[in-house]
Amino acid sequence: MDNVILRSENLRKEYRLSHDNSNCVIPGLGLEIRKGEFVVIMGNSGSGKSTLLYLLSGLEDLTGGQVYLKGNPIPAGQKGKAIMRRSLMGFVFQQHNLIPSLTLLENILVAAFLVHGDRKESKDKAVRLMGDLGIEKLHDRYPAQVSGGEQQRCSIARALVNSPEILLADEPTGSLNSSSTANVLQIFSSLHAKGQTIIMVTHAIEAACYGERIVYLRDGAIVDEYGILPDLTRTEKERDLLTWLTKKGW
Ligand SMILES: Nc1ncnc2c1ncn2[C@@H]1O[C@H](COP(=O)(O)OP(=O)(O)OP(=O)(O)O)[C@@H](O)[C@H]1O
Ligand SMILES: [Mg+2]
Repeated sequence: MDNVILRSENLRKEYRLSHDNSNCVIPGLGLEIRKGEFVVIMGNSGSGKSTLLYLLSGLEDLTGGQVYLKGNPIPAGQKGKAIMRRSLMGFVFQQHNLIPSLTLLENILVAAFLVHGDRKESKDKAVRLMGDLGIEKLHDRYPAQVSGGEQQRCSIARALVNSPEILLADEPTGSLNSSSTANVLQIFSSLHAKGQTIIMVTHAIEAACYGERIVYLRDGAIVDEYGILPDLTRTEKERDLLTWLTKKGW
């Protein structure tokens, strides 16, 4: 129990459609994520993957249940939630959500300045991350002046600039070509090797095989879990995962 970093208990989400009609997307979900784990969430379109990620990170309000981060419930108020999220979580969105009027470096710094008083230290960290992600020559470019893969790497740098305890990524490679996809997944893999906790939503089998544990969602419920066997080759991992997913009705 000690190494559980994020835990949901009876998590429920209903979207209100009209005054007497609502849509229950997650009826009551329990999930435990251990520190250093690389967990992958899969499931058909509309099964609730993005909603679950938003609930776990406090980006969406819960209808019921609770999320515990390092044993403490996520604060109910928006301000407390934002403080917790900025300091402990990094979020990579499917669409990178960079601010168009800011350069890549400034986009990363905006996230850093919300948390840290020391601007020099934040800037050094942002510059270092851009180097690690291979976009060090693009500091002064605007998002529209770089490729989709470079935008996504910038959004990863933004997610990492405050050294989050948990990295959450919603289809981080969904809009990328195969070389950018491989690049982003290599970055996740090396972060994971250094102990980073990662929760990633993906529909891509090759991306999922970078993780350790697959959680399969159907109608907002976890129907099964699957452990990727670490000693297999990439092709074997992908073949076995596809077999498992097919049995789940994927
Ligand atoms: N604001 C909303 N109001 C009502 N229903 C919503 C709202 N947002 C999402 N939903 C519904 O909740 C369900 C789960 O949506 P979610 O975006 O979590 O699915 P997903 O598994 O991420 O799908 P995809 O693979 O297509 O991204 C869907 O049926 C969706 O229509
Ligand atoms: Mg989604």
